[in-house]
Amino acid sequence: MEYSIETHDLTKKFALQKGFTDSLRHPFRKDEITAVEKVNITIGKGELFGILGPNGAGKTTLIKMLCTLILPTEGTAYVNGYNIAGDSGKVRESIGFITTDERSFYWRLTGRQNLIFFASLHNFYSYDAQKRVDELLNIVGLINRANDKFLSYSAGMKQRMAIARGLLNNPEVVFMDEPTKGLDPGAAQNLRGFIKERIVKEQGKTVFLSTHHLGEAEQLCGRIAIIDEGELRVIGSPEELKSTLDKPNPTLDDVFLHYTGKEFKEEEASKHPYSERKRMMREGRRGMMRGGRIGGIGF
Ligand SMILES: Nc1ncnc2c1ncn2[C@@H]1O[C@H](COP(=O)(O)OP(=O)(O)O)[C@@H](O)[C@H]1O
Ligand SMILES: [Mg+2]
Repeated sequence: MEYSIETHDLTKKFALQKGFTDSLRHPFRKDEITAVEKVNITIGKGELFGILGPNGAGKTTLIKMLCTLILPTEGTAYVNGYNIAGDSGKVRESIGFITTDERSFYWRLTGRQNLIFFASLHNFYSYDAQKRVDELLNIVGLINRANDKFLSYSAGMKQRMAIARGLLNNPEVVFMDEPTKGLDPGAAQNLRGFIKERIVKEQGKTVFLSTHHLGEAEQLCGRIAIIDEGELRVIGSPEELKSTLDKPNPTLDDVFLHYTGKEFKEEEASKHPYSERKRMMREGRRGMMRGGRIGGIGF
């Protein structure tokens, strides 16, 4: 059987940049960090597969490797049968990568203009581009708002735009990195229904998504892989995972605790201590530039 995604001992290590004073202060600190360690997974066509883990677990790094945005340090992977290192062009043609970054759209252009621009990057001819864009605006339910500026869209609509863009080239496999991050509960719920019903059931795509939301993984995914500190701990359907526990009426929280030895705290998972601090500093600095203070903190 040919798989949509197949990884063999996929590993990514990042070199840590250590300053001179750092190396004096912390002489024994490791110089590299293993973000993803020897991951082996196979995903069939048409699966909705979820990778679940707290922030810093290695989800984004794994997705970036599969999308050929970064190279693995060890191991190999195949997406749609193409090697991610040797055949990266072919991999890119056959996948869609959807991030939560709304800044990658042109806010003063309309939704339709945005998509036509991105279609031109995929070498669509003008007529084909318009046809494909309208088709996608229909699929994501934005056809009635297509002529409004992107800046007037709600967070959920912006996320649907990102999905429409990810589907422009009609990819076989769609990667989504925390697709419901930052959405309010109602919009997140809508988007989940949309991914399952329209992208997977109707369009027949294989979806590989990451999430730090237990309920989301349970509700959406046929199979879930729990990842922690770069290592895959367990893979299976939510029911299979629960049935491995020797406990009446186990929940996915219990599964997480069992396989990682940690309580899963959703609100903490959404904050990575390091990146959170960096974000605050960045926003603080921006606030200072505007002559304001954010949250009472002036950095
Ligand atoms: N470019 C990078 N350089 C150094 N370390 C990185 C880089 N990208 C990610 N990391 C580290 O790798 C680990 C996994 O990060 P990431 O894949 O972003 O986790 P997740 O998406 O699950 O929150 C984290 O410890 C993170 O700090
Ligand atoms: Mg991430």
